[in-house]
Amino acid sequence: MTIQDELSSTIADLVGPDRGILAADESAPTIEKRFRAIDVESTEDSRREYRSLILSAPGLGEFISGVILFEETLGQTSLEGQPIPELLKSQHIVPGIKVDKGKKPMVNAPGDEITFGLDGLHDRLESYKAQGARFAKWRDVFHISDTLPSRTAVEANAEVLARYAAVCQSCGIVPIVEPEVLMDGHHSLARCAEVSEEVLREVFNALARHRIQLEHMILKPSMVTPGKDNPHAAPSEVADATLTIFKRVVPAAVPGIFFLSGGQTPEEATANLNALNSHGPQPWALSFSYGRALQEPAQKAWAGKLENREAAQEALLKRARLNSGARSGKYQA
Ligand code: 13P
Repeated sequence: MTIQDELSSTIADLVGPDRGILAADESAPTIEKRFRAIDVESTEDSRREYRSLILSAPGLGEFISGVILFEETLGQTSLEGQPIPELLKSQHIVPGIKVDKGKKPMVNAPGDEITFGLDGLHDRLESYKAQGARFAKWRDVFHISDTLPSRTAVEANAEVLARYAAVCQSCGIVPIVEPEVLMDGHHSLARCAEVSEEVLREVFNALARHRIQLEHMILKPSMVTPGKDNPHAAPSEVADATLTIFKRVVPAAVPGIFFLSGGQTPEEATANLNALNSHGPQPWALSFSYGRALQEPAQKAWAGKLENREAAQEALLKRARLNSGARSGKYQA
């Protein structure tokens, strides 16, 4: 297969109807935080047990087209001894990999952060590909205040995101481009819309500058919502505000917009996706690439005990099924 054929077939496998992506790529500090909430110690064994059991939930591939893994998981075997990428393939799920190296405060831009990980990226992608990964993820974050994010942070983060996407496509790996505008704070819906529009505009400028094939990428943005410390907006308001700016700045050539959940409750994230898909046909598929909103109930049900395996799998399948329904506006709370 040529690189172009690889990219096209991965897009076709990821962006079909009724399915979305499961983000199970929490970094070591993040999974430790999630496990602490259920009183479980994060060790290589506990992470393997948990991830192996959710990824082997029977029939997961009916609702999930791709799973984003953390590097450690890509090289692990399931509890049954099967390499995790093989397990996913047997579920008709495409294995993917988080490739950024996390964010750090940005020098000379107080309050902003910038994502690292471009050094050695080409070689890492080649070895992830040899292990079975067909798509990748890189996450930028943008903080909102009256003055943040600075222009410097918007431009610099857009530039690294585009450079990452270019390297991915050159290796036949589909890039998930994730500019996350954080929910933290007490900003209004209108302020989130303003920042999201500025960020997305800059990201697509950078993608054009680096000649990214828009047909062979997936956008993973946050929805336009008020800050977490404000009352939450109704799903119809979130959908209206989100679609208004996305129509302005996201080219129709992008095949899919797969939203992150970013601190929304599982129920909210499903209701908001449902509202987004209740506005008639759009140029892009509108789907989910949720971490917390898919996994939180499963983590609670598991609680670090293997005997809770079936309950944890059921909890994951339930959220996956409901979000699958929300892809066509069929979800009922
Ligand atoms: P959340 O849905 O929990 O925001 O996670 C998605 C993700 O992959 C963030 O990078």
